[in-house]
Amino acid sequence: MTQASDPASTRPLRGAERQPTRPLPPTVFVLFGGSGDLARRMVLPAFFELAQRGMLPEEWRLVGAGRRAVPDEDFRARVYETLTEFGPSPEDGPWEEFSKRLRFAGGGFDKTDPGHLLEVLGEARGELGVDPQYVHYLAVPPSTFAPITEGLVQHGLAAGARVVYEKPYGTTPESFQELDNLVLSLLDEDQVFRIDHFLGKEGTQDLHVLRFVNELFAQIWSHEHVKRVEIDVPEELDVADRAEFYDATGAALDMLVTHLFQVAAEVAMEPPASLTPTDLQAARESVLASFRPLDPERDVVLGQFEGYRDLDGVADDSTTDTFVAARLWVDTDRWRDVPFLLRTGKRMARSAQRVSLWLRTPSGPIAGVPDNGNVVSLSLTGSGSLDICLVTKEPGPDLVLTRAQTTLDLKHVPGGTPLPPYVSLLHDVLTGDRSLFTTSDGLAGAWAAFAPLQERPPPVRPYERGSWGPLEAGVLAGPDGWLLGQTAAERA
Ligand SMILES: NC(=O)c1ccc[n+]([C@@H]2O[C@H](COP(=O)([O-])OP(=O)(O)OC[C@H]3O[C@@H](n4cnc5c(N)ncnc54)[C@H](OP(=O)(O)O)[C@@H]3O)[C@@H](O)[C@H]2O)c1
Repeated sequence: MTQASDPASTRPLRGAERQPTRPLPPTVFVLFGGSGDLARRMVLPAFFELAQRGMLPEEWRLVGAGRRAVPDEDFRARVYETLTEFGPSPEDGPWEEFSKRLRFAGGGFDKTDPGHLLEVLGEARGELGVDPQYVHYLAVPPSTFAPITEGLVQHGLAAGARVVYEKPYGTTPESFQELDNLVLSLLDEDQVFRIDHFLGKEGTQDLHVLRFVNELFAQIWSHEHVKRVEIDVPEELDVADRAEFYDATGAALDMLVTHLFQVAAEVAMEPPASLTPTDLQAARESVLASFRPLDPERDVVLGQFEGYRDLDGVADDSTTDTFVAARLWVDTDRWRDVPFLLRTGKRMARSAQRVSLWLRTPSGPIAGVPDNGNVVSLSLTGSGSLDICLVTKEPGPDLVLTRAQTTLDLKHVPGGTPLPPYVSLLHDVLTGDRSLFTTSDGLAGAWAAFAPLQERPPPVRPYERGSWGPLEAGVLAGPDGWLLGQTAAERA
């Protein structure tokens, strides 16, 4: 592992916004759904971590918003509990300074009735003494995205503001388009931050760094050298306490058209003109239009784990998919005829988040090289790692081939302080860096590729808990199987 000692090597790669040279303006962060599950588990902990790391603007306020009235003191107590449960611990500071800047506005919010939000924002503005930068984070049910956006315009909170939309941003091509048309009739595209937290992962970001800074990776990144791409996100967990939500959604809608397609776009994109936010975003999002519409009969396997229907909140005759495997084709010259194998599911044998490029075997004097022997693989879990799996000579007197692996754990890169995805993405919103957010055109491409699966879903096949999904998914991967789980060479 090389040491990052050259100052050039530590220069921010994603434009000046990533490490702002100018201080961030006074900011009011309005967290719609401030009492909800996502706010508790992800957004509030990420916001506190930004405070701990000194990455918030010098002057800011956070206003939780919802329908129920919550006194400020109660909201602060809830945030304290949330941080105690999900971290980072408030005991590690700076809780006192942080908590003074938290407010709550109840009474709901839409076009006709702003509830208490305008009042509370007026107070916050008074305290700050200037017109702040507004960030509106919609951690609310998707059915409220449109009325809240309309309310922002109606009540004068939209001009110059940034608005963050959680997933699902539409659940069909039509509902996506309807929502997006409405949003873009009210806001400029550069105000809109559609979040996909897989793009904020350290490992995912290395996909667009490795290959553009290093000939070793740049040269192999095409059909000439890559035999297949795997994007594999098995989960051991079931649907926990979100069964009702999950039963109305399923694995394909929750994960495939969103996270797995976006990661596939990170792998498949052409080199951007530069790593500025605009160019990086344009490169990744434009390749989504080259995703061939899925062929559900040939290229998709859906599954449901045994016992799923017994969960509270799940219908007795539910046909919701808790597993999806898909073979995606990317119709660009670079990726012609290379299958992108995508897989995710609940209650599987183990949890992982892995992107793997299987390299072709060169023709040459050595026979019997295993097809899955040479693999470049990135783990997206936690702070991420890069694993290079190689066929080498087994040290010793004879020419015996063996597989070996070398791993670069990104958290051990000198000088590195890996950011959890929500921390990274929230920081990007505060600085106005849209590189890791999706665009209208990109999502339109994703929905076009996904649409045939919604129109003609294949049968949902049962699979055992703790397995690797239905047998048909193994067949989809071909005789070599999947890298994780179905080959003798399973790698961690
Ligand atoms: N939870 C997750 O792991 C997760 C993961 C990815 C994406 N998401 C997305 O994040 C969003 C929030 O999910 P969640 O799990 O946090 O839901 P949740 O626990 O049900 O919380 C929803 C929040 O929205 C508020 N709310 C509900 N109905 C509202 C309405 N009609 N108008 C205004 N506010 C309303 C609720 O507060 P009041 O009742 O006080 O209004 C509550 O704070 C959803 O879009 C979801 O798909 C969630």
